[in-house]
Amino acid sequence: MTTTQTRLPLFILGQSSDPHCERGVECPGELPPASDPALVERAWKAKERLGERLFVLGHHYQRDEVIQFADVTGDSFKLAREAAARPEAEYIVFCGVHFMAESADILTSDAQKVVLPDLAAGCSMADMATFDQVEEAWDVLTDAGVADVTVPITYMNSSADIKAFVGRRGGAVCTSSNAKRALTWAFEQGEKVLFLPDQHLGRNTAVLQLGLSLDDCVVYDPHRPGGGLTEKQLRDAKMILWRGHCSVHGRFTAEAVDDVRARIPGVNVLVHPECRHEVVTKADYIGSTEYIIRTIAEAPAGSAWAIGTELNLVKRLASQHPDKSISFLDRSICLCSTMNRIDMPHLVWALESLAEGRVVNQIVVDPETTHWAKVALDRMLALP
Ligand code: 13P
Ligand code: SF4
Repeated sequence: MTTTQTRLPLFILGQSSDPHCERGVECPGELPPASDPALVERAWKAKERLGERLFVLGHHYQRDEVIQFADVTGDSFKLAREAAARPEAEYIVFCGVHFMAESADILTSDAQKVVLPDLAAGCSMADMATFDQVEEAWDVLTDAGVADVTVPITYMNSSADIKAFVGRRGGAVCTSSNAKRALTWAFEQGEKVLFLPDQHLGRNTAVLQLGLSLDDCVVYDPHRPGGGLTEKQLRDAKMILWRGHCSVHGRFTAEAVDDVRARIPGVNVLVHPECRHEVVTKADYIGSTEYIIRTIAEAPAGSAWAIGTELNLVKRLASQHPDKSISFLDRSICLCSTMNRIDMPHLVWALESLAEGRVVNQIVVDPETTHWAKVALDRMLALP
């Protein structure tokens, strides 16, 4: 087994600065100290008290000490489906990030309450597309005469109001595990796609899975007038990619792939499609977190793997598969800081509060946004 963690510099990524300050979010309650040796026991006790009323969802990037409390673990697609399939659970505690909890609230009934243990657990990529910016972009497409033939597709990693925007305009949500199906569907509905907010997932799927060329893609920059594109560029393009990216996956480089191949002969390079195009084209296998887990589980003993995704997941895979050599693709270590905000003190506080009848950190999406975001999410869930 190869893990490179201790020798390498540590980068905590996913938010440009302290998310508490950035989002103006302070924990509204008294958190237990992180040093409390009884945290694990307290979390189990609170969970036991809540019984069937509680359902805990955990994204694969969560820390080990947190993920052990998840009733179901998964990628964003699986977790959205699981949330929708639990009408009996009164409380859904989402160990993930804000956009995932919003989607869970949209997909569950009004009687169910979705709780995010730390409200500062956001996503830097989702924050790269605001509602006003997307409305402005649509006006630019309208002025260029292409809005009518453009289908908007938003990655799950976007706020509820962006999902609602997409739902209103005939589009759908996608995740990293169904982006190909979503884009195929979109091109059956229109001539062009506006893909939000991850340019890399959009480009990788369009070029590597749908056979479009890089020239078919343009990048719309919300910080430049007209997105930095001419009307002709918008008319000629098939894929209009939003200039957004994941600050964790965006760190992996093509050089890192060359480097690992030189260091580990016969290594298989397995990366998430949020990685840059030049990284993905050099990789052997590409897929969502769920795909990455399945691929490693099915790999023969003795095989060597370099994985380009968030570190908590790579470390967990390395410890679960000691018969395989599993290393992190980059020489520096990338954790998603916002996923990591969900820690034991926040989880214990959320669970104990619920067990005492106090609903804390509830994520509530307003009815109008819920309606249209659900239209976009349902279109995704109905994809063949
Ligand atoms: P998936 O879990 O859908 O692969 O997405 C990865 C991710 O970055 C979640 O924020
Ligand atoms: Fe967002 Fe990237 Fe963190 Fe996922 S890994 S929550 S896309 S910043």
